[in-house]
Amino acid sequence: MLTKPLMPTLAAISLLCAPSVAQELNLYSSRHYDTDERLYSEFEELTGITINRIEGKADELIARMQAEGMNSPADILLTVDATRLARAKAMGLLAPVESETLETRIPAHLQDADNEWFGFSTRARIIFYDRNDVSDPPQTYADLASPEYRGMICIRSSTNVYMQTLLAAIVTHEGQEAGRRWAAAVMGNFARDPQGGDTDQLRGIVSGECEIAVSNTYYFARSIRTDVQGLSEDRDMIGWVFPDGDGNGAHVNVSGGGVARHAPNRENAVRFLEYLAGDSAQAYFSAGNDEYPAVDGVEVAASIATLGEFRGDDVSLSEVAGNVPVAQRIYNEVGWE
Ligand code: FE2
Repeated sequence: MLTKPLMPTLAAISLLCAPSVAQELNLYSSRHYDTDERLYSEFEELTGITINRIEGKADELIARMQAEGMNSPADILLTVDATRLARAKAMGLLAPVESETLETRIPAHLQDADNEWFGFSTRARIIFYDRNDVSDPPQTYADLASPEYRGMICIRSSTNVYMQTLLAAIVTHEGQEAGRRWAAAVMGNFARDPQGGDTDQLRGIVSGECEIAVSNTYYFARSIRTDVQGLSEDRDMIGWVFPDGDGNGAHVNVSGGGVARHAPNRENAVRFLEYLAGDSAQAYFSAGNDEYPAVDGVEVAASIATLGEFRGDDVSLSEVAGNVPVAQRIYNEVGWE
Protein backbone atom coordinates (compact mmCIF):
# COMPACT_ATOMS: atom_id res chain seq x y z
CA MET A 1 0.00 0.00 0.00
CA LEU A 2 1.44 3.34 -0.98
CA THR A 3 1.37 5.95 1.67
CA LYS A 4 1.28 9.64 1.13
CA PRO A 5 4.92 10.46 1.98
CA LEU A 6 6.11 8.35 -0.93
CA MET A 7 4.15 10.43 -3.42
CA PRO A 8 5.98 13.74 -3.76
CA THR A 9 3.87 16.66 -4.80
CA LEU A 10 4.25 18.16 -8.28
CA ALA A 11 5.84 21.22 -6.75
CA ALA A 12 8.42 19.08 -5.00
CA ILE A 13 9.19 17.23 -8.25
CA SER A 14 9.75 20.41 -10.20
CA LEU A 15 11.94 21.74 -7.41
CA LEU A 16 14.03 18.58 -7.49
CA CYS A 17 14.33 18.67 -11.25
CA ALA A 18 14.97 22.37 -11.68
CA PRO A 19 18.74 22.40 -11.19
CA SER A 20 19.28 19.63 -13.73
CA VAL A 21 17.26 21.28 -16.50
CA ALA A 22 19.82 22.81 -18.83
CA GLN A 23 18.97 26.30 -19.99
CA GLU A 24 19.05 26.03 -23.74
CA LEU A 25 17.92 27.75 -26.88
CA ASN A 26 17.66 26.01 -30.23
CA LEU A 27 18.30 28.52 -32.96
CA TYR A 28 17.35 27.69 -36.54
CA SER A 29 19.32 30.26 -38.49
CA SER A 30 20.21 31.01 -42.08
CA ARG A 31 22.87 33.47 -40.84
CA HIS A 32 26.51 32.47 -41.14
CA TYR A 33 28.66 35.48 -40.36
CA ASP A 34 31.96 35.40 -38.45
CA THR A 35 30.92 38.37 -36.32
CA ASP A 36 27.91 36.44 -35.03
CA GLU A 37 30.17 34.51 -32.60
CA ARG A 38 30.22 37.59 -30.39
CA LEU A 39 26.47 38.10 -30.83
CA TYR A 40 25.75 34.64 -29.45
CA SER A 41 28.46 34.42 -26.80
CA GLU A 42 27.34 37.73 -25.29
CA PHE A 43 23.81 36.34 -24.89
CA GLU A 44 25.15 33.15 -23.32
CA GLU A 45 27.28 35.14 -20.86
CA LEU A 46 24.41 37.47 -19.95
CA THR A 47 21.80 34.76 -19.41
CA GLY A 48 23.56 31.45 -18.80
CA ILE A 49 21.47 30.03 -21.65
CA THR A 50 23.37 27.83 -24.11
CA ILE A 51 22.59 28.46 -27.77
CA ASN A 52 22.46 25.39 -30.02
CA ARG A 53 22.82 26.60 -33.58
CA ILE A 54 21.17 24.72 -36.42
CA GLU A 55 22.30 26.51 -39.57
CA GLY A 56 21.07 25.99 -43.08
CA LYS A 57 19.51 27.63 -46.08
CA ALA A 58 16.36 29.52 -45.16
CA ASP A 59 13.93 27.46 -47.20
CA GLU A 60 15.47 24.21 -45.95
CA LEU A 61 15.11 25.32 -42.33
CA ILE A 62 11.48 26.25 -42.92
CA ALA A 63 10.83 22.87 -44.58
CA ARG A 64 12.57 21.13 -41.69
CA MET A 65 10.42 22.92 -39.11
CA GLN A 66 7.32 21.95 -41.02
CA ALA A 67 8.39 18.30 -41.27
CA GLU A 68 9.23 18.18 -37.55
CA GLY A 69 5.82 19.59 -36.68
CA MET A 70 4.91 19.57 -33.00
CA ASN A 71 8.12 17.72 -32.17
CA SER A 72 10.36 20.40 -33.63
CA PRO A 73 13.16 21.40 -31.25
CA ALA A 74 13.27 24.83 -32.90
CA ASP A 75 12.84 27.75 -30.52
CA ILE A 76 13.72 30.56 -32.92
CA LEU A 77 13.72 30.95 -36.69
CA LEU A 78 16.15 33.62 -37.92
CA THR A 79 16.12 34.42 -41.61
CA VAL A 80 15.91 37.23 -44.14
CA ASP A 81 13.15 38.93 -46.09
CA ALA A 82 9.61 39.76 -44.99
CA THR A 83 8.26 37.48 -47.72
CA ARG A 84 9.99 34.47 -46.20
CA LEU A 85 9.06 35.41 -42.63
CA ALA A 86 5.45 35.85 -43.73
CA ARG A 87 5.57 32.45 -45.42
CA ALA A 88 6.77 30.82 -42.19
CA LYS A 89 3.91 32.55 -40.40
CA ALA A 90 1.36 31.40 -42.98
CA MET A 91 2.62 27.83 -42.58
CA GLY A 92 1.84 28.05 -38.86
CA LEU A 93 5.49 27.76 -37.83
CA LEU A 94 5.65 30.91 -35.67
CA ALA A 95 3.91 32.08 -32.50
CA PRO A 96 2.88 35.59 -31.48
CA VAL A 97 5.08 37.34 -28.93
CA GLU A 98 3.78 40.10 -26.69
CA SER A 99 6.83 42.00 -25.54
CA GLU A 100 6.99 45.59 -24.37
CA THR A 101 10.69 45.65 -25.27
CA LEU A 102 10.13 44.52 -28.85
CA GLU A 103 7.14 46.82 -29.30
CA THR A 104 9.04 49.90 -28.21
CA ARG A 105 12.45 49.10 -29.72
CA ILE A 106 11.53 47.72 -33.16
CA PRO A 107 9.76 50.23 -35.45
CA ALA A 108 6.14 49.23 -36.12
CA HIS A 109 6.60 48.90 -39.90
CA LEU A 110 9.34 46.29 -39.38
CA GLN A 111 7.08 43.99 -37.33
CA ASP A 112 4.43 41.46 -38.27
CA ALA A 113 0.91 42.80 -37.57
CA ASP A 114 0.30 39.81 -35.27
CA ASN A 115 3.77 39.98 -33.68
CA GLU A 116 4.83 36.63 -35.14
CA TRP A 117 8.05 38.07 -36.58
CA PHE A 118 10.26 41.09 -36.01
CA GLY A 119 12.94 42.73 -38.17
CA PHE A 120 16.29 43.22 -36.44
CA SER A 121 18.24 44.81 -39.28
CA THR A 122 17.34 46.36 -42.59
CA ARG A 123 18.65 46.58 -46.12
CA ALA A 124 17.49 48.78 -48.96
CA ARG A 125 17.01 47.53 -52.53
CA ILE A 126 18.50 50.30 -54.62
CA ILE A 127 19.77 51.33 -58.05
CA PHE A 128 23.44 51.10 -59.05
CA TYR A 129 24.86 52.45 -62.30
CA ASP A 130 28.01 52.80 -64.39
CA ARG A 131 29.39 56.27 -63.65
CA ASN A 132 31.18 56.34 -67.02
CA ASP A 133 28.15 55.47 -69.16
CA VAL A 134 25.11 56.83 -67.34
CA SER A 135 24.97 60.57 -66.82
CA ASP A 136 21.31 60.64 -65.87
CA PRO A 137 20.63 57.56 -63.71
CA PRO A 138 17.09 56.51 -62.69
CA GLN A 139 15.97 58.33 -59.54
CA THR A 140 12.89 56.23 -58.83
CA TYR A 141 11.69 52.64 -59.27
CA ALA A 142 9.26 54.05 -61.84
CA ASP A 143 12.23 55.44 -63.80
CA LEU A 144 13.53 51.87 -64.29
CA ALA A 145 10.51 51.44 -66.59
CA SER A 146 11.44 54.43 -68.76
CA PRO A 147 12.28 53.70 -72.45
CA GLU A 148 15.37 55.88 -71.88
CA TYR A 149 17.02 52.83 -70.27
CA ARG A 150 16.25 50.27 -72.96
CA GLY A 151 18.66 47.33 -72.92
CA MET A 152 20.57 48.70 -69.93
CA ILE A 153 19.20 47.02 -66.80
CA CYS A 154 20.44 43.90 -65.01
CA ILE A 155 18.01 42.59 -62.45
CA ARG A 156 17.16 39.27 -60.82
CA SER A 157 14.66 36.56 -61.53
CA SER A 158 11.14 36.83 -60.15
CA THR A 159 11.68 33.61 -58.20
CA ASN A 160 13.89 35.60 -55.84
CA VAL A 161 12.16 36.80 -52.64
CA TYR A 162 13.78 40.26 -52.83
CA MET A 163 12.13 40.82 -56.21
CA GLN A 164 8.79 39.53 -54.94
CA THR A 165 8.83 41.88 -51.95
CA LEU A 166 9.91 44.85 -54.09
CA LEU A 167 7.00 44.42 -56.52
CA ALA A 168 4.64 43.74 -53.60
CA ALA A 169 5.69 47.12 -52.15
CA ILE A 170 5.00 48.83 -55.50
CA VAL A 171 1.58 47.13 -55.60
CA THR A 172 0.92 48.25 -52.01
CA HIS A 173 1.63 51.89 -52.93
CA GLU A 174 0.32 52.09 -56.51
CA GLY A 175 -2.06 49.17 -56.99
CA GLN A 176 -2.01 46.04 -59.16
CA GLU A 177 -2.39 47.70 -62.56
CA ALA A 178 0.53 50.05 -61.94
CA GLY A 179 2.55 47.08 -60.70
CA ARG A 180 1.82 45.16 -63.88
CA ARG A 181 2.71 48.10 -66.14
CA TRP A 182 5.94 48.60 -64.20
CA ALA A 183 6.99 44.94 -64.47
CA ALA A 184 6.19 44.75 -68.19
CA ALA A 185 8.08 47.97 -68.96
CA VAL A 186 11.14 47.06 -66.87
CA MET A 187 11.31 43.75 -68.78
CA GLY A 188 11.55 45.83 -71.95
CA ASN A 189 14.71 47.41 -70.51
CA PHE A 190 16.52 44.18 -69.61
CA ALA A 191 20.16 44.03 -70.69
CA ARG A 192 19.96 40.23 -70.44
CA ASP A 193 17.63 37.54 -69.17
CA PRO A 194 17.49 37.56 -65.35
CA GLN A 195 20.31 35.48 -63.93
CA GLY A 196 22.46 35.17 -60.81
CA GLY A 197 22.37 36.83 -57.42
CA ASP A 198 22.65 40.48 -56.45
CA THR A 199 26.46 40.45 -56.60
CA ASP A 200 26.18 39.20 -60.19
CA GLN A 201 24.02 42.20 -61.11
CA LEU A 202 26.76 44.50 -59.75
CA ARG A 203 29.47 42.50 -61.53
CA GLY A 204 27.46 43.04 -64.71
CA ILE A 205 28.23 46.75 -64.45
CA VAL A 206 31.96 46.00 -64.06
CA SER A 207 31.98 43.62 -67.04
CA GLY A 208 30.06 46.12 -69.17
CA GLU A 209 27.07 43.85 -69.70
CA CYS A 210 24.77 46.27 -67.92
CA GLU A 211 24.77 49.99 -67.27
CA ILE A 212 22.21 49.80 -64.44
CA ALA A 213 21.69 47.14 -61.77
CA VAL A 214 19.30 46.58 -58.89
CA SER A 215 20.79 45.14 -55.72
CA ASN A 216 20.45 45.13 -51.96
CA THR A 217 22.75 47.60 -50.24
CA TYR A 218 24.76 45.01 -48.28
CA TYR A 219 26.16 43.31 -51.39
CA PHE A 220 27.81 46.55 -52.42
CA ALA A 221 28.85 47.39 -48.84
CA ARG A 222 30.46 43.95 -48.53
CA SER A 223 32.66 44.76 -51.52
CA ILE A 224 33.93 47.75 -49.54
CA ARG A 225 34.64 45.77 -46.34
CA THR A 226 36.22 42.75 -47.99
CA ASP A 227 37.51 41.63 -51.36
CA VAL A 228 34.63 40.47 -53.56
CA GLN A 229 35.97 38.96 -56.77
CA GLY A 230 34.96 40.79 -59.93
CA LEU A 231 33.62 43.74 -57.98
CA SER A 232 35.85 45.28 -55.28
CA GLU A 233 38.70 46.20 -57.60
CA ASP A 234 36.48 48.16 -59.98
CA ARG A 235 34.00 49.41 -57.45
CA ASP A 236 34.85 53.07 -58.09
CA MET A 237 33.12 52.95 -61.45
CA ILE A 238 29.80 52.21 -59.73
CA GLY A 239 27.48 54.95 -58.55
CA TRP A 240 24.25 54.47 -56.60
CA VAL A 241 20.85 56.06 -56.12
CA PHE A 242 18.53 55.54 -53.16
CA PRO A 243 15.30 55.64 -55.17
CA ASP A 244 12.19 57.66 -54.41
CA GLY A 245 13.90 60.03 -52.00
CA ASP A 246 11.23 62.59 -52.87
CA GLY A 247 8.43 60.02 -52.71
CA ASN A 248 7.85 56.93 -50.60
CA GLY A 249 11.55 56.41 -49.95
CA ALA A 250 13.81 53.50 -50.89
CA HIS A 251 12.34 50.02 -50.54
CA VAL A 252 13.50 48.50 -47.25
CA ASN A 253 13.43 44.85 -46.21
CA VAL A 254 14.55 43.03 -43.07
CA SER A 255 16.61 40.30 -41.55
CA GLY A 256 14.51 39.04 -38.71
CA GLY A 257 12.98 36.23 -36.82
CA GLY A 258 10.29 34.90 -34.60
CA VAL A 259 9.58 32.35 -31.90
CA ALA A 260 8.70 28.86 -33.14
CA ARG A 261 5.10 27.74 -32.65
CA HIS A 262 6.16 24.62 -30.70
CA ALA A 263 9.24 26.11 -29.03
CA PRO A 264 10.32 23.86 -26.14
CA ASN A 265 12.15 26.82 -24.57
CA ARG A 266 9.72 29.62 -25.30
CA GLU A 267 10.77 31.86 -22.43
CA ASN A 268 14.42 31.71 -23.50
CA ALA A 269 13.35 32.40 -27.07
CA VAL A 270 11.55 35.60 -26.11
CA ARG A 271 14.59 36.66 -24.07
CA PHE A 272 16.74 36.10 -27.14
CA LEU A 273 14.56 38.27 -29.37
CA GLU A 274 14.58 41.00 -26.72
CA TYR A 275 18.35 40.69 -26.52
CA LEU A 276 18.58 41.17 -30.30
CA ALA A 277 16.75 44.47 -29.91
CA GLY A 278 19.39 45.79 -27.46
CA ASP A 279 22.02 48.32 -28.57
CA SER A 280 24.99 45.98 -28.36
CA ALA A 281 23.33 43.08 -30.19
CA GLN A 282 21.93 45.50 -32.76
CA ALA A 283 25.43 46.62 -33.64
CA TYR A 284 26.72 43.02 -34.01
CA PHE A 285 23.63 41.80 -35.81
CA SER A 286 23.61 44.53 -38.44
CA ALA A 287 27.38 44.72 -38.96
CA GLY A 288 27.61 40.96 -39.57
CA ASN A 289 25.95 41.42 -42.93
CA ASP A 290 26.66 45.11 -43.64
CA GLU A 291 23.08 46.04 -42.84
CA TYR A 292 21.38 48.92 -41.02
CA PRO A 293 20.32 48.39 -37.40
CA ALA A 294 16.53 48.24 -37.03
CA VAL A 295 16.71 50.24 -33.81
CA ASP A 296 17.20 53.99 -34.16
CA GLY A 297 20.38 55.53 -32.81
CA VAL A 298 22.58 52.41 -33.07
CA GLU A 299 25.83 53.05 -34.93
CA VAL A 300 25.96 51.91 -38.55
CA ALA A 301 28.97 49.79 -39.62
CA ALA A 302 31.65 51.67 -41.58
CA SER A 303 31.10 49.68 -44.80
CA ILE A 304 27.43 50.60 -45.07
CA ALA A 305 27.89 54.13 -43.72
CA THR A 306 29.87 54.79 -46.94
CA LEU A 307 26.61 54.74 -48.90
CA GLY A 308 25.35 57.77 -46.99
CA GLU A 309 22.05 58.69 -45.42
CA PHE A 310 18.77 58.10 -47.19
CA ARG A 311 15.05 58.11 -46.74
CA GLY A 312 13.65 54.59 -46.35
CA ASP A 313 10.09 53.56 -47.15
CA ASP A 314 8.19 53.08 -43.89
CA VAL A 315 5.26 51.17 -45.38
CA SER A 316 4.28 48.20 -43.19
CA LEU A 317 6.27 45.15 -44.34
CA SER A 318 3.53 42.98 -42.90
CA GLU A 319 1.08 44.62 -45.31
CA VAL A 320 3.59 44.39 -48.18
CA ALA A 321 4.10 40.68 -47.54
CA GLY A 322 0.34 40.26 -47.95
CA ASN A 323 0.72 41.44 -51.57
CA VAL A 324 3.42 38.92 -52.50
CA PRO A 325 0.95 36.47 -54.09
CA VAL A 326 -0.28 39.35 -56.31
CA ALA A 327 3.32 40.21 -57.20
CA GLN A 328 4.05 36.59 -58.12
CA ARG A 329 0.96 36.47 -60.33
CA ILE A 330 2.00 39.68 -62.11
CA TYR A 331 5.52 38.35 -62.77
CA ASN A 332 4.00 35.18 -64.23
CA GLU A 333 1.55 37.11 -66.38
CA VAL A 334 4.14 39.43 -67.88
CA GLY A 335 6.61 36.56 -68.33
CA TRP A 336 9.43 37.84 -66.06
CA GLU A 337 11.30 34.58 -65.51
FE1 FE2 B 1 20.99 38.27 -49.75
